[in-house]
Amino acid sequence: MEYNVKDLSLAEQGRKQIEWAEMHMPALMSIRKEFAESKPLKGIRIAAVLHVTKETAALMRTLKEAGAEIWLAGSNPLSTQDDVAASLVKHDGIHVFAWKGENEKEYYDNIEAIIKPEPNVVMDDGADLHAVIHEKHRDLKILGGTEETTTGVVRLKAMEEQGVLLYPVIAVNNAFTKYLFDNRFGTGQSAIDGLLRATNVLIAGKVAVVAGYGWVGRGIASRLRGMGARVIVVEVSSLRALEALMDGFDVMPMKEAAKVGDIFITATGNINVISREHFPLMKNGAILANAGHFNVEIDVKGLKEMAVSYRTIRPYTEEYTLSNGNKLYLLAEGRLVNLAAAEGHPSEVMDLSFSNQALSVKYIVENRSKLERKVYNVPSEIDERVAYLKLKGMGIEIDSMTEEQKEYAKQWKYGT
Ligand code: ADE
Repeated sequence: MEYNVKDLSLAEQGRKQIEWAEMHMPALMSIRKEFAESKPLKGIRIAAVLHVTKETAALMRTLKEAGAEIWLAGSNPLSTQDDVAASLVKHDGIHVFAWKGENEKEYYDNIEAIIKPEPNVVMDDGADLHAVIHEKHRDLKILGGTEETTTGVVRLKAMEEQGVLLYPVIAVNNAFTKYLFDNRFGTGQSAIDGLLRATNVLIAGKVAVVAGYGWVGRGIASRLRGMGARVIVVEVSSLRALEALMDGFDVMPMKEAAKVGDIFITATGNINVISREHFPLMKNGAILANAGHFNVEIDVKGLKEMAVSYRTIRPYTEEYTLSNGNKLYLLAEGRLVNLAAAEGHPSEVMDLSFSNQALSVKYIVENRSKLERKVYNVPSEIDERVAYLKLKGMGIEIDSMTEEQKEYAKQWKYGT
């Protein structure tokens, strides 16, 4: 069996981690039960580029149970949990090509390794797999793919608009049961988890600057406020800036925020949000972290070039001393702080995201003849079903409309 992981002897520890995740993923477990009986993915070969975490393991094991053969590579050089990767190889027969601390060449070699067996379905988080296929493997016969994250959906929409998209893709990110929970509560909590594991600083009383007020930025800002920080939001959209203001945050340009922030977290999906012009303005001891998908939001190269000295002070915490004597602390090399310095989103929230993934893969296979080379939203029946399964798994019951209410909801004549 082909694979490439750090250390297979970590498999027992990995299995316990996966058990722990699955205990907190009731919706996905109920889908697994159904897939185990109906085997909707029999004969399907899947290549997936996802963060290799205990939650991803729960998804891969579900797809395997559905009958698929699976090849998995990591979606970030620092996010793989090596014990989980080992367990997936040893206990589940999943072809994993990933380890924590890959260099860029290894990262792309691992993507090539999972493309080699010629997958029918591709799953991605950030669209690197989709991009490599579109650049170098255009002759593959792919039924369709999924995309997990905002950044990846933006890239895929660009492909669609330029008319170059080779197969249908379901934008899992765009499901309500994905972005309203994963992006907001998942990143909101796990980005702070990464910040705390890397630094162990007190959040109460600090000035925290959050760049970007999309669902991720909202989650981070509200959690930081809940822990006692005074939060400043930096935005480029007037609408979002207005919303942040009325949510009770201070709003200002980065040039102003740079002077007063103790902790900076970027969540914009864009490049050089904190850049050379900002570093000299920052206070001694300022902490810089990124929660966006790619390591482009903080100009790390610029920071390195401007620094007169550099040292690693704690795992995932690097100290850069500037010529003005101030020290700035960069977390996780500017990569996703929640996955590099912590364990990513908690299992409970990945339960929603990965239930959407599992049902979307089944949907692609079942609807292969109807789907076009487009980016599709997750069908609303899947979204509704995931919410239903999650509530059920949590033991929460809700009301349903009475016949009278159903009738009333169809009316337009009743007014004042
Ligand atoms: N993205 C964010 N958190 C994650 C997790 N725990 N597993 C997989 N992908 C993630």
